[in-house]
Amino acid sequence: MTAADIDNSDRGFVPPYAPQLTGKEGFIRATWKFMRNPLEGFGPLAWKQPIVSVPTFGFKTHTVCDPEGMMQVLATESHKFTKSPVDARILGPATKEGLLSVHGAQWKRQRRGVAPMFRPRHMAELAATITDVIHDFTHILDRRREIDLNLTMADLTFEVLSRTLLGDPQGVDGRRLRRATRKAVTAAGTLRPDDLLPLPGWVPRPVPPGGMVALRTLKRSADILLGRRDEDAPGDDLVGLLISARDPQTGEPLTQRERRDNLIGFFIAGHETTALTLTWAIYLLAMCPDVAGRVRREVLNVAGRGDVEFDHLNDLIFTQAVLDETMRLYPPAPMINRKCREATVLLERNIEPDDHIILNYYIMHRAPRLWDRPGVFDPDRFVHMPELKARGSAFMPFGAGPRICIGAAFATMEAKMVLATLVRDYDIFVPPNCYPRPVMTVTLRPQGKIPTQLKKV
Ligand code: HEM
Repeated sequence: MTAADIDNSDRGFVPPYAPQLTGKEGFIRATWKFMRNPLEGFGPLAWKQPIVSVPTFGFKTHTVCDPEGMMQVLATESHKFTKSPVDARILGPATKEGLLSVHGAQWKRQRRGVAPMFRPRHMAELAATITDVIHDFTHILDRRREIDLNLTMADLTFEVLSRTLLGDPQGVDGRRLRRATRKAVTAAGTLRPDDLLPLPGWVPRPVPPGGMVALRTLKRSADILLGRRDEDAPGDDLVGLLISARDPQTGEPLTQRERRDNLIGFFIAGHETTALTLTWAIYLLAMCPDVAGRVRREVLNVAGRGDVEFDHLNDLIFTQAVLDETMRLYPPAPMINRKCREATVLLERNIEPDDHIILNYYIMHRAPRLWDRPGVFDPDRFVHMPELKARGSAFMPFGAGPRICIGAAFATMEAKMVLATLVRDYDIFVPPNCYPRPVMTVTLRPQGKIPTQLKKV
């Protein structure tokens, strides 16, 4: 099926989706499908029910596709669950001692340490730097006939990350670092048969050779960035905050390993997710020129022809709705895992210690029992129903509870500034037969390239 085959006249555009299992596949075929693309590894029950439980090697795996269950695991009973050993094995080689992986008091100390970077009043300052990056980036775009949309957005968001959060990354080759980050995530995030076994987090998970080189690049770059700072006056960007963070009780600083693993965690978590949101949003707008026209008119009304600035962002209501609808259809982090550590009852199921929980945002965001016309790209649903974004709703691209994405406000600001500027200043063309299937390797990526032309208006 291609975009041209889809009737987008009355019902609206149905963008690419991951086909679900029919329920008639045997165990081996279903497992193979799950390993190849986890988005395609769930059958009709997961799409119909709030929770599906299956026995897996001596414990149970519960897939939760429902806001009430998600809130219980992530927020109200978050103390009864912990990050899963699967995540520990996948993320461990890159960022074992960083915020993405640690627990308890260590997590609290690290989260407190970096929180000032993401405070609302800091956002306006960071927005000015994002504007500079967008200027430089559009000069490069103007010289290119065609771009690979996903890679170009990744270059852009990595540049934003470097200049806003990492200070002046001199001595580190940004492009090389970005490529190494992608390679490390791809190598680590591709599922293997042993990932389905109940192995504890400390069992090493061999990384393929290309991934090892990428990991070495990440570690060396993080060491260079940290090593160039003065311990007594480290600065107030993310690198500086990691150096000055202290335990409120003991006054102990983070260890060198914690500092490095956190920086690598931010390379991983802080750019590809936003790049993917922009990639899918631009793709959807290229396929729906009438919607792109509405975004352009809104941006012209709010910001005129000048820079899209921090003060404009709250008034870009339809542009925000396009981003929300994009993250509903393509949540950049489509599933996250937890392990149960204290027995509880979840959506009327008994959950035992060591049971595995998959929080499946991809299915929750598209479940017919929760959404009207779930497969259709319809940003207006977020304009007309602001309750879709209330706490505990079925829309949770940034997670929930204490471990909710720390970069959510930053990512939203960045994506809105970039999308608003590009859609106002360029006509976007993607071949009509481009219909890239969503695939999951930790993040939700389009399969293959999205060749894109941006023509200055
Ligand atoms: C559209 C963009 C983004 C999406 C959809 C997203 C999504 C998420 C989700 C779902 C989680 C929760 C994971 C869990 O509970 O296991 C998370 C955590 C996290 N995110 Fe994001 N993220 C985005 C952008 C960013 C950015 C820009 C940064 C940093 C600059 C960032 C840094 C982090 C970190 C450090 C965590 C771990 C927080 C903790 O465990 O305390 N993310 N993100």
